[in-house]
Amino acid sequence: MVESTLWHPVALAGDVGNSPLAVQLLEQPLVLWRDGLGVVQALADRCPHRGARLSLGRVTVQGRLECPYHGWQFDGSGQCTHVPALPAFVPPATHCARRHETCEAHGLVWVRLAPGSAALPPFAAEEDVRLRKLNCGPYDVAASAPRIIENFLDMAHFGFVHEGWLGSREATAIEDYRVEPTATGLLATGCKAWQPQSNLHSTAAAQVEYTYEVTAPYAAVLTKVPEAGTTAVDGWRESIALFICPITPVRSRVWFRLAVADFDSPDEKLQAFQHTIFTQDQPVLESQMPQCLPLDLRAELHTAADKASSAYRRFLRQSGITFGVC
Ligand code: FES
Ligand code: CO
Repeated sequence: MVESTLWHPVALAGDVGNSPLAVQLLEQPLVLWRDGLGVVQALADRCPHRGARLSLGRVTVQGRLECPYHGWQFDGSGQCTHVPALPAFVPPATHCARRHETCEAHGLVWVRLAPGSAALPPFAAEEDVRLRKLNCGPYDVAASAPRIIENFLDMAHFGFVHEGWLGSREATAIEDYRVEPTATGLLATGCKAWQPQSNLHSTAAAQVEYTYEVTAPYAAVLTKVPEAGTTAVDGWRESIALFICPITPVRSRVWFRLAVADFDSPDEKLQAFQHTIFTQDQPVLESQMPQCLPLDLRAELHTAADKASSAYRRFLRQSGITFGVC
């Protein structure tokens, strides 16, 4: 399955420490912890001895994961290093738990379940020192990851779902925009919206121009550049990445990575704006039927305003994605 060879976000990096953390990815229960060197490790959350959940155990002072049932210890490679019932026994290489690759990026821990060549979803703003980065989330959403990505690419809902914030019922028309396929998904440029409150600092409505990029099957980035002189903060721009962990085909965990020019507002204030917007989207997302994203373009109706989402569906189909789609 192609999804298992991709990198997926599973936790905030700051939430993984010296006690085991249970997470779920693509219906697989995993346990995360930091080993003696502070490196995040991930094992299948099932002890190979009698099947107990390793995440109910603890991390030893040497940074090994100890099973809650009979105290077997595992190192970051998954190798069992100690069987307390037989202190002199040296466990052979076959005594091991299933291990998965991990890495840390964008404030998150990423896991891939099977080896592959796919890179992490790119987020160019991460390297820009003029921008401040912070995470927002997680949000547990009863919707498929592709439905959530598609909502992020959709501007025609602003005047309804985000009325008074990102849109207005008085300005619902979507001007034509450009969409082109890319190696990682798609790029949509020239997306314009009339926004009463486009960000924390808005003092008046402004025409905002967006660029959307799908950077992996379950990741997307938007960049906002307001027209000159229309906002209180000169040179305001921001880039927001959406990173989704597909938990089951119809349940997802969502994080945003914000890259903003505002170094003054407290984290909580910046997160509160994003929180307001996403919690406006969430009930609509959770109401969509079917919960999976239909890839047959004849299954739902589309207009020219939806061409980014049609392109996204074509990309998923061409990529052979099967999780969260139908
Ligand atoms: Fe894990 Fe026995 S079930 S040590
Ligand atoms: Co929305």
